[in-house]
Amino acid sequence: MQIEYINDRDVSDALDAELRTLLSSCFTGEVNAVFSRQRFFTEMPSHRWLTRDSSGQLVAHLAIHDKVIGTSAGDLRMGGIAEVCVAASHRGQGLVHRLLAMSDDWMIGQGIPFGILLGDLRVYGSSGYRGVENSIRHLDPKTGEWLIEPLPSFLIKPLGIVDWPNGVIDLRGPKF
Ligand SMILES: CC(C)(COP(=O)(O)OP(=O)(O)OC[C@H]1O[C@@H](n2cnc3c(N)ncnc32)[C@H](O)[C@@H]1OP(=O)(O)O)[C@@H](O)C(=O)NCCC(=O)NCCS
Repeated sequence: MQIEYINDRDVSDALDAELRTLLSSCFTGEVNAVFSRQRFFTEMPSHRWLTRDSSGQLVAHLAIHDKVIGTSAGDLRMGGIAEVCVAASHRGQGLVHRLLAMSDDWMIGQGIPFGILLGDLRVYGSSGYRGVENSIRHLDPKTGEWLIEPLPSFLIKPLGIVDWPNGVIDLRGPKF
């Protein structure tokens, strides 16, 4: 199966509907009802990778937020991986590995030194992601409160020669 890249600004109404259908099938429960209305959770990502089956149906998706975070070593550009989703019919075939490999290549080409995500190490560990001990500053969109706390699901992947900084990591916005 081919993986295609699309910049979010080029998403058509038809693709928007396909994305919302796929994301709603992967992310269920009340908190994820938002995907029936929009193709993002809290913030629109800039870049997307898509996979279709032989009939053309959208079956897998990964998005990247192109962000700058605050660190003790200064500002750092990073790729924030989000909305990773594989249709139930196509799971267990390594599609997440393949989507991550494509997005890694893109980030390396952009000179982005780290991929970052909030997710399950069991899913992302074999693709090179690992946990870190930094406290993470982030905005709670419900309360408007800024929180500084360790987040066990915060995973990083170094993509270049930059050392991961110590100290608080400031997302400057909500979790993605
Ligand atoms: C999680 C999800 C994306 C995995 O898709 P997939 O195509 O089955 O993943 P892959 O086949 O590429 O497997 C990648 C790794 O994840 C592991 N994995 C997949 N689903 C898992 C699960 N539910 N629990 C724990 N590990 C899981 C695989 O064992 C594999 O690990 P390995 O390489 O060490 O053997 C898919 O189940 C999904 O869309 N779930 C609903 C949405 C979701 O939870 N997204 C992730 C948000 S962080």
